[in-house]
Amino acid sequence: MMELSPTEVFDVKVLFKQEEYKTKLRKNLLNNTFFSRFKKNKVYDLAEECFTNEFIWDETASETERVQKLIEDIQADKFKAPAEAVHAIALVACYRPLIQTDIADKALEYAEKADNQTYSKLLTYLIREPRQEEEIKQEIQTFGSITNKTSLEIKQQYDENPYPRWRNIKYLADTLEKQDDVKIEILIAGCGTGLEVINIAKEHPHSRITAVDLSTSCLAYAIRKTKEQGIDNVDFYCGDLLEIKELGKTYDYIVVTGVLQQLENPLQGWRALADVLEPGGGMTVSLYSELARYPVNLGRQYIHDNHLECNIKDVRKFRHHLKTDLPKEKPLVRLALGRGFYSFSEMRDILFPVLEQQFTIHQIKEALEETGLIFNGFIPKDKRLDDFLAQHPYEEDRRNLDLWHEYEVANPLSFTGMYQIACLKPAAEEGEKAA
Ligand SMILES: C[S@@+](CC[C@H](N)C(=O)[O-])C[C@H]1O[C@@H](n2cnc3c(N)ncnc32)[C@H](O)[C@@H]1O
Repeated sequence: MMELSPTEVFDVKVLFKQEEYKTKLRKNLLNNTFFSRFKKNKVYDLAEECFTNEFIWDETASETERVQKLIEDIQADKFKAPAEAVHAIALVACYRPLIQTDIADKALEYAEKADNQTYSKLLTYLIREPRQEEEIKQEIQTFGSITNKTSLEIKQQYDENPYPRWRNIKYLADTLEKQDDVKIEILIAGCGTGLEVINIAKEHPHSRITAVDLSTSCLAYAIRKTKEQGIDNVDFYCGDLLEIKELGKTYDYIVVTGVLQQLENPLQGWRALADVLEPGGGMTVSLYSELARYPVNLGRQYIHDNHLECNIKDVRKFRHHLKTDLPKEKPLVRLALGRGFYSFSEMRDILFPVLEQQFTIHQIKEALEETGLIFNGFIPKDKRLDDFLAQHPYEEDRRNLDLWHEYEVANPLSFTGMYQIACLKPAAEEGEKAA
């Protein structure tokens, strides 16, 4: 019931193979085994990928030693030709975040000396942009105060590991219908690194968007990327959504994706958001399904049983287990699907969350009743929901949570892509009638 389809198993195996090839290539480049220009130039792609995945690939003791020696040689200006120094710096960048090493400024100096555009572009990603984000952090507007213990821990997690570190905009299925002629107030609560913000801002160029998050690292990334896209209808704030009323505004639409499950009391957060939603307004809430998270829970159980901690050494150990036991423990390997397996931040988010509350459809029903919101259907982002929609062509049935519950019990992985709940706040008259 919980097994991967043959295509999914195949995809995972291919990804493992690619990683094996790339780690070997990286090691050979470090040991100077390849001399062809083509292979040597691969170092820039590898450096970019390793920075993005936060150096999650295995590293041997001899590699660690060699990288340290390279850093010392670069510091001591041992490389006479700029091209040689640049290659050495790019090699270090395949193993370490340059911005956190003592050779960051030297690396930038070489960008001036060596006529190498690929190298210069790499440094923009590895050093210039992160430095820009540090400056942006100093100017982020705030609201309320962050005092809740869980919120402070979450803030620390995302400040240390902002994610996703996305590069190019990809279209997300719309949580909101495209409305480029409408002017509404939209709130994105827990906006993370801004991918969702940019998508919604592009779809609603005349609307005003307020995007809030606890983490200044995530916000700085989001602000830099938003500027890069030429978007100017977003106001970013650092603060706790539990205190959203401190902003003194109300909204026509609220989006809260992958956030409420991190709260000690998700219902309290949901209520705080419902309170600032205009009557007649809409909200999209994404929450984890207890049934669909089964494979992730297995992974966490493994971590618990093996006393693994949230550090690069243990995360690599865990990944090794996933690779080697692939044929035996298919459900566990589900974790490897999607992006989750390929960067430290995502592994941290999936396997070592500060808190992750998982839900059932019955709990969603209760929460909606408590917040006074009306269920307006699940947003069918996942093809696993197609059968339900085919079986229930009428809107009335699609808004029946008991029918959805029956379907989910029979198809436990249906909501692997989270419950994407569309809900509405009754318009003023309806609310009054109900009261
Ligand atoms: C898994 S990320 C999701 C980000 C974004 N919504 C997305 O879908 O890409 C969760 C984000 O919610 C933020 N967050 C968690 N609890 C929050 C709270 N109480 N108030 C504001 N932001 C919060 C975290 O800092 C983090 O950036």
